[in-house]
Amino acid sequence: MSYYLCYPSYSEECVRRRLERLRALGVVEVANLLGKGHAAVVLEGRLSDGSPVAVKVLRADSKREDLIYECRLTELAYPISPKVYSCSEEFIVMELVKGRPAAEVLASEGFRYAYIAKVLAAGRGLDIRGVDHRELSRAHKHVVISGGGAVKILDYESAALVERPCNICRLVSWLARLRGADVEALGELLALLRDYKKTSDEDRRGELFREILGGSKVLSV
Ligand SMILES: Nc1ncnc2c1ncn2[C@@H]1O[C@H](COP(=O)(O)OP(=O)(O)O)[C@@H](O)[C@H]1O
Ligand SMILES: [Mg+2]
Repeated sequence: MSYYLCYPSYSEECVRRRLERLRALGVVEVANLLGKGHAAVVLEGRLSDGSPVAVKVLRADSKREDLIYECRLTELAYPISPKVYSCSEEFIVMELVKGRPAAEVLASEGFRYAYIAKVLAAGRGLDIRGVDHRELSRAHKHVVISGGGAVKILDYESAALVERPCNICRLVSWLARLRGADVEALGELLALLRDYKKTSDEDRRGELFREILGGSKVLSV
């Protein structure tokens, strides 16, 4: 699996160097491939005390210079994001999230209030932190419900710090496109979010969010 440390090219020298750098960050082993994207690959790993981690590795052919900014945004987004253990130019060492895609959980739970509210609350968590995820309108692989029931949002590659993000808006549009979702009720939710989107006062935004959660048809059944 250490082959993937220098993906898509390979040289023993590169793998050795990256393993050494990982060791300096406390990672003693890399195992299964968890995912492969344009800029990075994600591997399962282990720290010296045995705890499992996910290691995001900058691809050798990536157009991006390093993973530092993504790593900082991932830190800022915690606990909606996985917990970050260390950042370097080539690696993000973070909590290994074990769970199922939220879309799958929502469908199997019949889009129940508790689950929709939890997903939207995660979006609200990012909004509060000023982190605009920017890949949530296609959230299939990014929104995960962990074994413990917490909603985790992965991958801050395209994320940015902005003044009034509306991650919730993106999540609602995404939810409305899922098979089995109540499109009409979610449309109504989007309308309610219009004020939320415009308001710059953070307390008022919090109030509006609570009203939306409590008052919307889609969330009150
Ligand atoms: N912290 C994590 N814990 C568990 N799996 C993860 C974690 N981070 C990423 N993954 C897995 O790896 C895949 C790719 O990660 P992602 O950050 O989306 O990479 P990329 O930006 O290269 O697409 C994800 O879809 C997910 O399945
Ligand atoms: Mg990505």
